[in-house]
Amino acid sequence: MPGVGKMQSLLFQLILMSFVFLNSVNNVNAGITSTFIRKEWPSVDIPLDNEVFAVPTGPNAFSFYCLHIFLLDKVHITQGNYDGNAVIISWVTADEPGSGKVQYGTSEKKYEFTAEGKMTNYTFCNYNSGYIHHVLVDGLEYDPKYYYKIGSGDSAREFWFQTPPMIGPDVSYKFGIIGDLGQTYNSLSTLEHYMQSGAQTVLFVGDLAYANRYQYNDVGIRWDSWGRFVERSTAYQPWIWSAGNHEIEYMPYMNEVIPFKSYLHRYPTPHLACKSSSPMWYAIRRASAHIIVLSSYSPFVKYTPQWIWFSEELKRVDREKTPWLIVLMHVPLYNSNEAHFMEGESVRAVFEEWFIHCKVDVIFAGHVHAYERSNRISNVRYNVSSGERYPVPDKSAPIYIIVGDGGNQEGLAERFRDPQPEYSAFREASYGHSTLEIRNRTHAFYQWNRNDDGKKVAIDSFVLHNQFWSNNLRRRKLKKHHWRSVLGRTASF
Ligand SMILES: *[C@@H]1O[C@H](CO)[C@@H](O)[C@H](O)[C@H]1NC(C)=O
Ligand SMILES: *[C@@H]1O[C@H](CO)[C@@H](O)[C@H](O)[C@H]1NC(C)=O
Ligand SMILES: *[C@@H]1O[C@H](CO)[C@@H](O)[C@H](O)[C@H]1NC(C)=O
Ligand SMILES: [Fe+2]
Repeated sequence: MPGVGKMQSLLFQLILMSFVFLNSVNNVNAGITSTFIRKEWPSVDIPLDNEVFAVPTGPNAFSFYCLHIFLLDKVHITQGNYDGNAVIISWVTADEPGSGKVQYGTSEKKYEFTAEGKMTNYTFCNYNSGYIHHVLVDGLEYDPKYYYKIGSGDSAREFWFQTPPMIGPDVSYKFGIIGDLGQTYNSLSTLEHYMQSGAQTVLFVGDLAYANRYQYNDVGIRWDSWGRFVERSTAYQPWIWSAGNHEIEYMPYMNEVIPFKSYLHRYPTPHLACKSSSPMWYAIRRASAHIIVLSSYSPFVKYTPQWIWFSEELKRVDREKTPWLIVLMHVPLYNSNEAHFMEGESVRAVFEEWFIHCKVDVIFAGHVHAYERSNRISNVRYNVSSGERYPVPDKSAPIYIIVGDGGNQEGLAERFRDPQPEYSAFREASYGHSTLEIRNRTHAFYQWNRNDDGKKVAIDSFVLHNQFWSNNLRRRKLKKHHWRSVLGRTASF
């Protein structure tokens, strides 16, 4: 009996979904629930002996044969200061501390400068992290390509990165957005597609390795394998980190009760440069964007350090210098998936009013393993006695985008709520990543790319108009709100 009921409701859902889809082709304002669902590969972690986790090739491949040469891997960089002319370079050496020096310069193999940093290590259950190095390289010039070398002798390895242009209102820049990545074959597909996109920096919306799906020593081992897995990108361009629930790792049964222990040891952020008291929440300015990173799983209610810092940081936002205001956090405020439905309500109750007041352009979140984009809506009129229960269209509101579709071992969140709520503009349960290409102070081009049979296909694309600049300019020029057509249905906002 329950089987029949389930079948009927599935059939009903299918009919409704195809109706919604057909309907929406003619009416761009209606929310679209894509009927496309592609799993591609099973949601299992890639086995540890797979080549994607291989110890790096190059000079230190000898390390297998020579006792005195040690491994140096899991290299990653992130922005090192407020305005982008510094990087933090991190790596791990397994067996001995090794040199904590970075040599760097603007021409290949000619390293004019040296920087030295800090070393840290930790245990997790019986796992021992090895020696984790973090080096701040600052005072860089804006724009050039820098080459850098870490380690010494036969174990040395060389990489490069490019610093961003100096911040300015019309500086163009391309960001990628990835969330909930994990280390499955789907994660690999997402990572490879991202690397084809030409984007210059990743905005990562939390849930990195999914190592907490393992127990005992394997937790640390899966943090290590993830570090090697993403090194192909993280060693060459900054990933702007934010923490998700999988980073908490509160595991009392194995005596691990310090939240975010692995994450904090491995992924430093430039929080001191923006006067934050914690690496969990911070802000950076890069090109023409001011990016604020929040921690959904750290205290955020009124009077907490995160709340106070965020209120202060918003005062430092200068749209004349950095027109684009972007917020990253793991939990989404507007989500119409059955998975994690309403989990962001407590954050919404505290911060939504600020987002509206400050005209945030876009808020990227993860957590839900699907893709979803909202309309510009707000629910700030609601309070427990007003009875105004529904979000309403609001031109000052950000667009909320969920990119929790990196491809981790928990699989896709395929059950969307039915009917699609009015706040939801487009949703699809597939793996993928997004890019945001800022052109100038008024225009940015946004795209969500689905992993489709090993290919990357742009599905949801539109021109994003800046909330601070476009509206004013547009009003002055009496330019009409217009819809564009890419793939038949590219709207502009
Ligand atoms: C960390 O490194 C120091 C210095 O080499 C060493 O004495 C200590 O035992 C290490 N601790 C852990 C937890 O590995
Ligand atoms: C709650 O909403 C009502 C109706 O909009 C409004 O009059 C009242 O001031 C609100 N209360 C608070 C504390 O925001
Ligand atoms: C900004 O870029 C858009 C899209 O490339 C272009 O149409 C527009 O004229 C530019 N605006 C300014 C002020 O340069
Ligand atoms: Fe999550």
